[in-house]
Amino acid sequence: MATVSRQKSSLLGQFNEARSRTLSLVQTLEKDDFIVQTAPFMSPPKWHLGHVSWLLEVVMSKAIKDYEFYSHEFSEYLNSYYHQFGEPHDKDKRGLATRPTVDQVFEYFHMMTNKVDGILQNEKLDEKTKQLFFMAINHECQHQELLIYDLQHLLADRYRPVIKNSMHRTPEQESQAIKINGGLYKMGYTGDEFCYDIELPEHNVYLNDYKIDAYPITNKQYMKFIDDGGYDDFKYWLSDGWDKVQNEKWKAPMYWEKIDGKWMTCDFLGKRKINPSEPVCHVSYYEADAYCKWAGKRLPTEAEWEKAACWDDKNQKKTIFPWGDNPPDNTRANLLESYIWNCDEIGSYPNGKSHYGCHQMIGDVWEWTSSEFSGYPGFKTGFSEYNDKWFANQKVLRGGSFATPSISIRGSYRNFFRLDERWLFSGFRCAEYV
Ligand SMILES: [Fe+2]
Repeated sequence: MATVSRQKSSLLGQFNEARSRTLSLVQTLEKDDFIVQTAPFMSPPKWHLGHVSWLLEVVMSKAIKDYEFYSHEFSEYLNSYYHQFGEPHDKDKRGLATRPTVDQVFEYFHMMTNKVDGILQNEKLDEKTKQLFFMAINHECQHQELLIYDLQHLLADRYRPVIKNSMHRTPEQESQAIKINGGLYKMGYTGDEFCYDIELPEHNVYLNDYKIDAYPITNKQYMKFIDDGGYDDFKYWLSDGWDKVQNEKWKAPMYWEKIDGKWMTCDFLGKRKINPSEPVCHVSYYEADAYCKWAGKRLPTEAEWEKAACWDDKNQKKTIFPWGDNPPDNTRANLLESYIWNCDEIGSYPNGKSHYGCHQMIGDVWEWTSSEFSGYPGFKTGFSEYNDKWFANQKVLRGGSFATPSISIRGSYRNFFRLDERWLFSGFRCAEYV
């Protein structure tokens, strides 16, 4: 009985925490901010608020017989890409819709919170229903992070977070590579709490011996690539990546601008000089891959990344996080709840390093891997149209960023984006064969 009530409070507790966090992220916005779409790849804050609430209706429709959606009009606008629920609204036109209004979306948000809260109070929920609601909570956490990417694009330092803490300052770190012995590695989620279908099943992969960087690639390292003409020479680039460089006139990571001979960026900390000790952020897969080629290295596969992050060679076991099985806290990783709103400098989290000595594998920046996003051998879909319809033309990123809620990250978590996307908080570290 104790277990049942603990689980119940954890589901209900996690739900209410996630809903409050969504509201706190938009608490200081002006009404005008909610509606604007500043690029086709981002969504207006109003849409995120409505969409996470609509997804709760999707889950209720799977769990409750004859469930009726609140409004056909709302469903049409708030459906992202689920064809089983009708034709979704065009993503790049989300900022053109004045209906539902911001007030209506808030009303809908609270209505769905109350409805689901009532359901989760019920002690007799079956396991399948609980898993559906865990998925909805995790989905909302994913949108909190997407909302933060979008708030940076929309407002940069005009965004006023409810909580804002200072960055760490650490002495400059020497970049170094760590050798990891190959052999069979059992990849995937090993715990007994919620994980996504794409983290399962655990399965063996064979790895050759390899080296992986102890830290993510820094701005200082990346600037050498730029200064050496990295963006001007096709020989470092995949063909599609080179087309992007030419067509989009890429010269540096997204948000970078050269002013009076100095590289500047514009983010939640404002327009500022590039800090050489922060991990490079806002690079696409193509840029990460080109850098590696220039450096005579390569990106790690996701199996190599996961082993370097989670394998405890001394005790011959895998842990959920690089430091062990305890959940993240702000002494180990820079995640959303650190509320720094930026990457921390490399070497800022010695308590969070992996058993092998790799730093900042959780938090700060998502790290591109060379692996194609697809199902593990024996993959079974957990929710139709959620993950597996994206098993093509996407690469896997690992580790979370400074905008990832701590509840939604672990060593086995697999994020995925198209190879040219870079408005997310994305960086990388290099690997090489030995
Ligand atoms: Fe979504």
